[in-house]
Amino acid sequence: MHAVVLVGGFGTRLRPLTLSTPKPLLPIANVRQLEHLIAHLATAGVTHVALALGFKPEPFFQAFPDGVCAGVQLHYAVEPEPLDTAGAIAFAARDAGINDTFVVMNGDIICDLDVASLVQFHREHKAEGTLHLTPVEDPSQYGVVETNSEGWVQRFVEKPAPGETTSSVINAGTYVLEPSVLSRMPANQKLSIERVVFPQMVADGTLAAMATSDYWIDTGRPDTYLQANLDLIDGSRSTILSSVAPHCTIDSSASIAHSVIGEGSTVGAQCVITDSVLLPGAHVGNRVRLERCLVMGVVGDDASLTDCVIGAEGHVQPGHTLSGEKIPSPELAS
Ligand code: GTP
Repeated sequence: MHAVVLVGGFGTRLRPLTLSTPKPLLPIANVRQLEHLIAHLATAGVTHVALALGFKPEPFFQAFPDGVCAGVQLHYAVEPEPLDTAGAIAFAARDAGINDTFVVMNGDIICDLDVASLVQFHREHKAEGTLHLTPVEDPSQYGVVETNSEGWVQRFVEKPAPGETTSSVINAGTYVLEPSVLSRMPANQKLSIERVVFPQMVADGTLAAMATSDYWIDTGRPDTYLQANLDLIDGSRSTILSSVAPHCTIDSSASIAHSVIGEGSTVGAQCVITDSVLLPGAHVGNRVRLERCLVMGVVGDDASLTDCVIGAEGHVQPGHTLSGEKIPSPELAS
């Protein structure tokens, strides 16, 4: 089976990390997010993945030089310009010659969905498209999906006010589509699948949806990206991965709790690091305190950071105390 994985977004919410590395190539517990995702698709029988590329395609070619990821054959579909989600899916599916039922996944989702069961649900319903839905605690921040008792989508409600809907499930970013959906997406046209194509399918009664309550996280924000990392090292998931990558240098007097230490990073003497992720190549000086931080760059001696995101070009001066800062500032860098 073929899948299209959307990986061409700008990843603005995760800047400054995404200024140097596209979001799907950022590691989650020391494994690239895209590798987690494609390995997961492979368990459902996906053999070919078309990567819908736009922003910064070159790092993807470098990451998978033989065009294989987790044993799955990759096809690189590079858009001439950002085409939004439907435009990107259509471009990649046509470019890869997809002409049978296929799976689509947003490149920033980590989940335990049984994708094969979503495909089966789709086939049983003879749907044109089927969405995966996931429950959220506070639906007012999301686009909520209403279905009928047979599993057909009735309505999308964007950021519902209290009492506006009884549904609390949202579009979870994995779809099964028939190739006929492509006829709803003109070639090389910027188009949103969520805002334009799916509502058309609802009007035609051809869009089904299946809700599951298994693990699901959208890693697109700093807090959720951090959470996805920590969930993979602390037993919150069925898989537990090592929190410390090979080839990093950690001073024996450093205290590290509930944190991921990436490939090639260094941690100096008497550091105290809690609930944080050091990305590959991060350099943390002596006596540094980090709490809930994401660090790709350099943190000088005696600095103390809480809820900070330090990009590859970021450099925190020795002795500075920072809270909630992004360095370099995404506004200045963009
Ligand atoms: P933000 O800028 O932080 O919102 O992140 P994003 O650019 O990834 O946008 P969003 O999370 O809404 O995108 C959902 C998925 O679609 C992600 O996997 C993106 O990589 C992808 N995506 C969004 N826009 C495009 C596009 O124009 N082309 C391609 N190929 N993918 C896109």
